[in-house]
Amino acid sequence: MERLDKILAKELNISRNEAKAVIRQGRVRLNGSADVSAESKADFGDVLTFDGKELARRDFVYIMMNKPKGVISSTDGKRSGEKTVIDILPEEMKRKNLFPAGRLDRDTTGFMLITDDGAFAHDILSPKKHIPKTYSVTLDRPFTDETVRDFENGAELGKEKCLPASLEPLNGEKTKALVTIRQGKYHQIKRMFKKHSLEVLELKRIKMGGLELDESLAPGEARYLKEDELSLIKPD
Ligand code: URA
Repeated sequence: MERLDKILAKELNISRNEAKAVIRQGRVRLNGSADVSAESKADFGDVLTFDGKELARRDFVYIMMNKPKGVISSTDGKRSGEKTVIDILPEEMKRKNLFPAGRLDRDTTGFMLITDDGAFAHDILSPKKHIPKTYSVTLDRPFTDETVRDFENGAELGKEKCLPASLEPLNGEKTKALVTIRQGKYHQIKRMFKKHSLEVLELKRIKMGGLELDESLAPGEARYLKEDELSLIKPD
């Protein structure tokens, strides 16, 4: 059982206050009844409508965060005394079993997917699924055609061979670039550039699958994904 304002915020991708307002405006019905308040509770079997349209209730939540620098993509920062992406979620979004689907380094920013759906996370992280992840990168020096070829051929990092990746310039000097990888090895992008004596100064994930980071999210902000956005990350 969950409170109506919480359910509506999640399903309509609005704030808890906005959810309370639409309930007050009489736009929400629970099992046909308009006699509801923000505190009313609904279960998965209940029929909830907004402006007459039934809401598809989801068992899991999917949150897009614009990860800021200085927080770790883990569920537990107690040991290291650091803040995690879960710690900085707004209180009303916090619930049991949330975890970040994939890793971004402490100093990496951008699109972090947070969910409690283990199967979905497994699916999008599996190297077999080849879900592309795109990053904007700032380098200390220009990259060369040799770097592009190495990325495209699948860079070798020690004994590991990466899947083919793409590297496109974002400025004329070739110190800013878009990199798309299809797996998530430890410090992968930094190591791929380091091999060519290039240092990554800034790294931001801007896209997962076909879904771009919502640039209206300031660093540290988060919002629920809509159903159609979820299928953009992982087409069926
Ligand atoms: N590659 C890296 O080196 N770091 C990240 O955070 C993500 C990809």
